[in-house]
Amino acid sequence: MIYLNGKFMPIEEARIPVLDRGFIFGDGVYEVIPVYSRHPFRLAEHLRRLQHSLDAIRLPNPNDATEWARLVHRLVEQNQPGDQSLYIHVTRGVAKRDHAFPEGVAPTVFMMSNPLVTPPRSQVDAGVGAITAADNRWLRCDIKAIALLPNVLLRQQAVDAGCAETVLIRDGNVTEGAASNIFVLSNGVLLAPPKNHLVLPGITYDVILELAAANGIPHEVREVAEQELRGAAEIWLTSSTREVLAITRLDGKTVGDGKPGPLFRRMYTLYQDYKNRVMRSPEKP
Ligand SMILES: Cc1ncc(COP(=O)(O)O)c(C=O)c1O
Repeated sequence: MIYLNGKFMPIEEARIPVLDRGFIFGDGVYEVIPVYSRHPFRLAEHLRRLQHSLDAIRLPNPNDATEWARLVHRLVEQNQPGDQSLYIHVTRGVAKRDHAFPEGVAPTVFMMSNPLVTPPRSQVDAGVGAITAADNRWLRCDIKAIALLPNVLLRQQAVDAGCAETVLIRDGNVTEGAASNIFVLSNGVLLAPPKNHLVLPGITYDVILELAAANGIPHEVREVAEQELRGAAEIWLTSSTREVLAITRLDGKTVGDGKPGPLFRRMYTLYQDYKNRVMRSPEKP
C-alpha cells in the first residue's frame, strides 16, 4: 500500500497529474526512513530534516510532526512485517507550468514503503570499491531535493566502474558520496566533513558521531582534504539503507591493507547494537 494525498491505496491505483511540479520542475523534497521490525529509526530527526528541506524551498509543511508520525505508522502497519524503507515525498502541487510559485495550490504528498535491503554480510566483511569525482552539484546540497540528476549521474559513474559509490571532491575537500556521507580515518582520528550547505545532514552521520563520542573514539568534524582521503587508513560511507560500509578500494587503489579496518569493525558492531537497542525501546517523535 502507498499513501497519496490523504488516501491509502495499492500503488497501481496511484495517479499523479502530468502538471505536478515534481514531474515538471523537480520542485519538491523527500525523506527516506529505515523501519526495523515496524519501528521507524530516528523518526523525529527525519521529520526535522524534512521540515528543514521544506523551509528551504519555502513550501509550508502540510502536516505537523504528530500527523506525519501517525501517517508513517499507519503505512508501516499496512506493509510487510519485515524491515522497510519508508519514502516521503512532498511537491509544490499541480499548476500550469510557470517557474514562479503558484498560489492556492495544495502540495502533493506521497509516501511508499519498500523492503529495506541492508548490505549483505559478505559486503560488510569485504568492503566496497569507490571512485572519486568532482562535486558538480548545486550549492544547496543540505536540501533533500527530489531533483537528483547530478547524484544519479555520479552514482552511475561508480556503477560503470564496477564500484558502489562515488566520493565527491569540491575545492580540494571531500564533501560526501553520491548518496551517502563519508568518514575518513587519518592519523588515528575519525574525520567527518562539517554539515553545511555542501552536504546532506545525514541521520546516520549523526549516529556515527554520537557513537564515536560515547565510546571514546577520537574524532573531529572539519574539512577533509583530498590528500587525507587518498592517504586514509580507513574510509567509510554511511546512509540509512547502507548503514556503515568500509570503502576498501578507491580509484582502483587499496585503502589501508585492502580490508575493512579495525575501527570500522568496531563501529559496525556499535551501530548494530545501537539499532537493536532502539528497536527494543523505540524513540517517540
Ligand atoms: C547525498 C546524500 N548524502 C548523504 C546521505 C545519507 O543520509 P542518511 O544517513 O540520512 O540516509 C544520503 C542518503 O541517501 C544522500 O542522498
